[in-house]
Amino acid sequence: MKFHEILKKSRLPTYEVEFILQELLGVPRHNLYEVDIPPGVYRSFLSLAEKRRQGFPLQYLLGVAYFYGLKLKIVPGVFIPRPETEILVEEAIKRIKKGDTVLDVGSGSGAISLAIASKRECFVDGIDISSLAIAISGENKRDLMEQGVLKGMVSFILGDFLSFGNSGRQRTYDVIVSNPPYIDFRRRDDLPEDVKKEPPVALFAADGGNFFYERLFDIAHSLTKRSGCLLVELPGEKERTSQIDLLARQCGWRKLKVVEDLNSRDRVLVLKKSKKE
Ligand SMILES: C[S@@+](CC[C@H](N)C(=O)[O-])C[C@H]1O[C@@H](n2cnc3c(N)ncnc32)[C@H](O)[C@@H]1O
Repeated sequence: MKFHEILKKSRLPTYEVEFILQELLGVPRHNLYEVDIPPGVYRSFLSLAEKRRQGFPLQYLLGVAYFYGLKLKIVPGVFIPRPETEILVEEAIKRIKKGDTVLDVGSGSGAISLAIASKRECFVDGIDISSLAIAISGENKRDLMEQGVLKGMVSFILGDFLSFGNSGRQRTYDVIVSNPPYIDFRRRDDLPEDVKKEPPVALFAADGGNFFYERLFDIAHSLTKRSGCLLVELPGEKERTSQIDLLARQCGWRKLKVVEDLNSRDRVLVLKKSKKE
């Protein structure tokens, strides 16, 4: 069977059919259109496509996600890294020099930490409250180390960042990055079915979605070196950006810039440490 026949019958978007067949066949995307797809692979495809139509994220079905050119292992219960977050990595890398210390708050699968360490000889600590996320990020780190992809040193720490400031840890950081939980709890019923399959601890925050930002800005201030930077992912709504920027200012951060994504939505807030008001 050929790719275009499967695509026609699948009732799935082209890029999803490509993603599934690429993983099942282990061939690059540009070869998919030529190869003969064996009946066994087609049967596996049909069963995955059915689950996908029921709202299961493809990354959970296939056990992989691609982020910043890295292939990462993903399982249900761990947040799926998003392409928009690559903008955060891009901005962070511009500010990280050889030997710098970096903290990734809410490291999940390890996507941001590992992407940074694939480009810079720095020291990255990733902290996450989920033991499953820490286990998967550890596996991803091992795989990438084996492939010789990492230039920096990465440690993943299981813990609640919100009590990190009280933990007596002395290390301070040149750069702190975070893609925190930022969806307002009250909007959980409006979410697409596949997002509802992701872990609530990775998605939701109290206070209209701003609770984690507020705590992050406060705690990160004491963990950052003088003139250090903090980069956070934004929800993408202008009104939320203004609220989050105000919270940052109140905690002693100065806005350097807001970076938009390809859909012109505010996606990354870059902050520099200044004095607390
Ligand atoms: C939106 S996900 C981001 C994951 C990853 N950084 C990424 O961009 O793909 C937020 C992460 O924060 C973690 N998290 C939530 N509350 C936390 C807390 N109090 N302390 C540490 N991590 C927390 C969640 O487990 C989740 O992995």
